[in-house]
Amino acid sequence: MRQLQLIAHGEPSDVIELNTVSEPALGQEDVLISMEAAPVNPSDFLFVRGIYGIRPAFPSSVGAEGVGRVAKIGSKVDVALRGKRVLILPTYEQGTWADEVVAPVRNIVPMSDEADPLRLSMIGINPATAYLLLNRYVSLMPGDWIGQTAANAAMGQYIIALAKLAGVKTLNVVRREEAAEHVRQWGGDRVILQGDNLQKDIVEALDGKKLSLVLDTVGGTSVGELAKSLKPGGSIVVYSLQSGQFPAMPPKEFIYCGLSLHGFWLINWIRNAPRTEIAEIYQKLGDLVVDGSLSAAVEHVYPLDQFKEAFKQSLKSHRTGKILFTFSSSSTESRIDGLFATSRNG
Ligand SMILES: NC(=O)c1ccc[n+]([C@@H]2O[C@H](COP(=O)([O-])OP(=O)(O)OC[C@H]3O[C@@H](n4cnc5c(N)ncnc54)[C@H](OP(=O)(O)O)[C@@H]3O)[C@@H](O)[C@H]2O)c1
Repeated sequence: MRQLQLIAHGEPSDVIELNTVSEPALGQEDVLISMEAAPVNPSDFLFVRGIYGIRPAFPSSVGAEGVGRVAKIGSKVDVALRGKRVLILPTYEQGTWADEVVAPVRNIVPMSDEADPLRLSMIGINPATAYLLLNRYVSLMPGDWIGQTAANAAMGQYIIALAKLAGVKTLNVVRREEAAEHVRQWGGDRVILQGDNLQKDIVEALDGKKLSLVLDTVGGTSVGELAKSLKPGGSIVVYSLQSGQFPAMPPKEFIYCGLSLHGFWLINWIRNAPRTEIAEIYQKLGDLVVDGSLSAAVEHVYPLDQFKEAFKQSLKSHRTGKILFTFSSSSTESRIDGLFATSRNG
């Protein structure tokens, strides 16, 4: 089988090779999954560059999440799983950028046959993170407001979709006007641009209301400007620092209003939550994909052998959506056109 392998830390195109490897032996509680789709995520590049919370031994398989169909099962695996579509949990114990993947049964969650495999392949990391960010820190009620940075990211799109389902309003910060237009189309309630006028624009956009939660993936000053509009006792959750700068908190509000700053990493949840809770949340997210409530834009799909182009496009800023690998599965190929059209229009 063909597998992308990481041979050292460095820039993705320099340190990843497409190799043919022999099929690993199947343990009693393992399944062999024939892959349908696997996204390329920013965290994959952190892993490749050696700056992620998990460090591999070389050569390592790579790719955190994806979906496929169970082609073979170990002797202790429920036979009902044979042929089922499954989501591979992003544990980093098995790389998904491969034609076939062997995973222990504890690392998979059965998914519906009705959903689009491309959309399903993206729920392992971002929608689960969005769901937990919205549900773990404050008890949000319909009509409450949250603020977020880099709202045009896939994460931002999922946060908007899940907030809307809960009747929660979103104040969205992006760094360019074209991205603002996408976020408006996705249903972001207010969209403003990062920059010198941010504080004034936040106050105007909220029109007297206060935020209950701020979700940040950028760091630096924008998150601090949003934090100034939090209710007393409000929470800020930082889940990435894409600017490379630590979040600059406004000292007065941070202390006098008793704000809380949290860090979130999905892997900690996957490692510590009961498997039943994990399966329940992913199945709920899968159902939202089936009914069309949850999706993220896809910019392009690539076969595995075009991995260098896939990485190049994925590393570009100002993308219109995610980059995914697809594998020789007719169900995936036949749905691609529809996915792009729907995603771009929100
Ligand atoms: N902690 C966790 O467990 C967890 C889970 C999921 C995701 N994440 C992190 O969340 C982030 C978003 O993931 P994604 O898959 O949604 O990403 P994505 O779709 O690839 O989008 C990346 C976004 O970041 C913006 N951006 C990049 N650098 C920026 C900067 N210096 N200042 C402002 N905006 C910047 C981009 O803006 P432009 O479009 O303008 O370029 C774009 O909106 C990643 O860093 C990922 O690792 C963390």
